[in-house]
Amino acid sequence: MRMVDIIEKKVEGKALSDEEIRFFIEGYTKGTIPDYQASAWAMAVLFQGMTPKEIATLTDAMEHSGETIDLSAIAGIKVDKHSTGGVGDKTSLALGPLVAACGAKLAKMSGRGLGHTGGTLDKMESVPGTNVFLSPEQFIAQVNRIGIAIVGQTAEVDPADKKLYALRDVTGTVQSIPLIASSIMSKKLACGSNTILLDVKFGNGAFMKTIDDARELAKTMVRIGDDLGRDTRAILTDMNEPLGFAVGNALEVKEAIATLHGNGPRDFTELVTEAGAIMLLQAKIVKDLETGRKKIQTAIKDGSGFAKMCELFAAQGGDISYLQHPEKFPEAAYVSPILAERQGYVKSIDSLEIGLSAMRLGAGRATMRDKIDMSAGIVLKRKVGDFVEKGQPLAYAYTNKADHEEVLAQIRAAFALDDKEVKVGPVVHEMIAL
Ligand code: URA
Repeated sequence: MRMVDIIEKKVEGKALSDEEIRFFIEGYTKGTIPDYQASAWAMAVLFQGMTPKEIATLTDAMEHSGETIDLSAIAGIKVDKHSTGGVGDKTSLALGPLVAACGAKLAKMSGRGLGHTGGTLDKMESVPGTNVFLSPEQFIAQVNRIGIAIVGQTAEVDPADKKLYALRDVTGTVQSIPLIASSIMSKKLACGSNTILLDVKFGNGAFMKTIDDARELAKTMVRIGDDLGRDTRAILTDMNEPLGFAVGNALEVKEAIATLHGNGPRDFTELVTEAGAIMLLQAKIVKDLETGRKKIQTAIKDGSGFAKMCELFAAQGGDISYLQHPEKFPEAAYVSPILAERQGYVKSIDSLEIGLSAMRLGAGRATMRDKIDMSAGIVLKRKVGDFVEKGQPLAYAYTNKADHEEVLAQIRAAFALDDKEVKVGPVVHEMIAL
């Protein structure tokens, strides 16, 4: 078999056979197929697409390109969730403890932030002492003991995706639904949970700009998961403004804590309640979504969600006095207001611009080697639908960089104001299940 023939077949719009797809993934992972052929292949897929059967084979080949995690030593149904990436997305920090407090088992592998999106591992590390690298034995023992562990993915999981995703990033081939779906699902499947909830974001800060594209991606992923024997569902959630108010590592941890105390932002609380209800249904802890929602709300009210968050961090070496007394998190040297230059209703907040601005303030990485400033970020004071008078704050920027005037202007420009009242929609728009 020759890679050039496989590329030409895809260029002509024909479906590849199982053998051809496996030949490519095996060869590319081993290094016998070079980057230039892989990028030509990815470009052909971007333009010609793939059939559901091709996508399933590609996902399976990538899943098995490295180590797969065996969670069978954990009793009961193991649930997992994945977000396609957003700004201010601290969902796992609140949702994980809530579902675990309700009896679900969450053995979660998470990632780091890059560019305008943050990562759960970085947020966790803003709590001093927290260790996100457990051995497989420690990981499994912790989930058996307290129902939850959140750790970094080991280098051995899905090496094909690591290579291919890095290549797609620099060859303009990220925006292909078959490639995104197989990339996400191969990693999730390799991580071994029985159920997967996908939070597929759409809007200005998301991979998918429209709800229609998000729906297509969600359906593709749900089909792959179900075909491969996992209960997979998806929600389509709005990323036309950042999630909640806080963007930036320690700032987001504080917001997750407030949410577990019942004082969270409306949109974020709605998202964790809906996602939590679905995960409890998947875990067969509840029989319907309404009971699931009530259970999540009770875990917020009775403090068991917050207690589980403390257990999670304590088990992974974190100093939980920071969770109990969030005022202990060091504050950035500069806290600068961004004031409205006119009055009006907030029509939209460009999340991509807010995410990039938070990165420029020190909260994120432009490249994987950059160091993060845990105290940096942005706290919104107005969300979509809110009214602001001229001179009132739209947001505050937190940074240790003295020279940040330009970023303040970029944050201001991310807010679009209107004279007319703006209707506020839900954050969770649809649930997709087969
Ligand atoms: N996230 C992933 O893990 N892979 C993609 O291709 C896009 C987003």
